[in-house]
Amino acid sequence: MRYLILSDIHANHEALCAVLAHVKRKRWDKAIVLGDVVGYGANPNQAVDRVRQLGPLVAIRGNHDKVCSGIEDGEMFNRVALQAAMWTRGKLTPSNLRWLQSLPEGPVVVDGEFAVAHGTPIDEDAYIFGEIEALNVFRQTAFPLCFFGHSHFPVIFGLSPDAIQTVITGPPAFRFRLEPGVRYLINPGSIGQPRDGIPLASFAMFDSGTRTVCVYRLPYRIEKAQKKILDAGLPRPLADRLALGR
Ligand SMILES: [Fe+2]
Repeated sequence: MRYLILSDIHANHEALCAVLAHVKRKRWDKAIVLGDVVGYGANPNQAVDRVRQLGPLVAIRGNHDKVCSGIEDGEMFNRVALQAAMWTRGKLTPSNLRWLQSLPEGPVVVDGEFAVAHGTPIDEDAYIFGEIEALNVFRQTAFPLCFFGHSHFPVIFGLSPDAIQTVITGPPAFRFRLEPGVRYLINPGSIGQPRDGIPLASFAMFDSGTRTVCVYRLPYRIEKAQKKILDAGLPRPLADRLALGR
């Protein structure tokens, strides 16, 4: 089975369209969404519509999906994130609002093959930035393989019986073969708001047959996404950071 793994789209229609156009030429069987379909970007309904069209689909919620759909009030959000979330809440169609509200909390186990979580499989709102957090999650869970998002930083953590390993992926495509006896926490990166200093949309494919993960980085029409953010009256830093990739 080949899984298309998408995370942190953040209402960036240009980036999502670039990714979906690219994978049209590839074979994939099931789309997996790790949360934060909306928030920050100017096209929340278009992003949700495109995701909903990706069947068969496994999707979990992210912190922005919760605040934008009114499940949470966003008291932990900074001013810019909260402003974008309130704007998004006012734009979402009733159908897309209900769809976001109905997304399950992670972790969710997919086909008995792997787990998916937004932040971590222990706390959906917590971050895995480095090996300390990864080790903490490895120790408190038993999943052999878990894909997660939330940090917007594509990375692979591997735990073997004697060591933890960090693999930083890079553009344009980074192929990684999972080793037997090693547990993995893998972030496919963010489609709509990368934060690793590389302003390219980031996503992954996982082939459960060959046990191979490939993280792809794709250019997209950043200026168009930025213009939409500014035209919508959303805060300028949300547009600026797309070109910086952080
Ligand atoms: Fe996010």
